[in-house]
This record gives sequence, structure tokens and C-alpha cells, in this order.
Amino acid sequence: MEMGVKMKGRRSDMKSQKVEKYAELLSQTESVLADEDDPLVWMATLACLIRDVFGFLWVGFYRVQGRELVVGPYQGTLGCLRIPVERGVCGACVRREETLVVADVHAFPGHISCDARSRSEIVVPVHDGSGRLRAVLDVDSEEPGTFDEVDRKGLEQLASRMKGLKWTAPH
Ligand code: SME
Repeated sequence: MEMGVKMKGRRSDMKSQKVEKYAELLSQTESVLADEDDPLVWMATLACLIRDVFGFLWVGFYRVQGRELVVGPYQGTLGCLRIPVERGVCGACVRREETLVVADVHAFPGHISCDARSRSEIVVPVHDGSGRLRAVLDVDSEEPGTFDEVDRKGLEQLASRMKGLKWTAPH
């Protein structure tokens, strides 16, 4: 078999495995958290489940408090505690209110390195039911170029399940 065809086949296998993992994660989330509307419970549980399924370097939440992002529940090594919205990939996600996929964190101006092993990153906004931005979901990987459209869709779907929670300040 031609090398290129083999590579493409392997890539599409990996992609479909990832799609399946996100589908499992979504159904697991919906069953485990079905009766929960506390954002803290959701953030802690999602950080645990996402890291457990994919083994990413760091998975966690930063909560939007004014012009600052304050660390929330996470899994991984010590995270930055507070990030001004003017800084970092997380800050850029807040300013743009859209998901950021960063293939090479060293090439992202203003990236904040909490763990020197981090090479790529995805940050997803988390809104409440009225469309107000409440938090960001931040995931880091030790490999460059880890995150793609499958991750974006999977993580955005999980974040969108947090719309209906009781977002009473401060969370
Ligand atoms: N890299 C992030 C900071 C948070 S840590 O990755 C946990 C950023 O640039 O905003």
C-alpha cells in the first residue's frame, strides 16, 4: 500500500476514535450530572472526566470575575491563579468570546506558561443561559498540534450543557 494512503487511513482512524471518545464523554456527563445545576460541581466533574478520558496535561476552568480570570476546579500541575483578561490565550478567548485553538503555544503572543511542558492548547468560552460569559474551559497538551475541529466541537458541546446551571455570583 502506498505510504500516503496508509497515513491518511491512520489519521482518519484516530479522528473517529476521538469522535467516539467525545460522544462517550458527553453521554457520561449527561448521566453523571443529570440532577446537578451547581457550576462548581460541573466544573470539577468535567475537569476530572476530560482528563481521565484523554490524559491531557492540564484541564480546568477559569472563572470570569470583572477584568480578571480566577482559577476554578482543575486537574494537572499547579495552574496560574489569576489571569488579567488582557493576557494569555485565556484572556484572548474572553475578549473574543470564541474558542481558540493554538497549535503551538510558543508562537502565540502573550501565552502564559503555567507548565513548561505545555505545547498546544484549546480554550472554550462557557456562557450562562442569558449569554453572559461566566468561565473558560482551558485544556493543555504536551504535544504540539493536538487540538482540531473534533476537540473544538466536543468541548463546545460540553460547555453548552452548562448554560442552564445556577450561575449565582461568585462562582
Ligand atoms: N496558558 C494559559 C494560562 C493557563 S494555564 O495553561 C493552566 C494562557 O495563556 O492563558
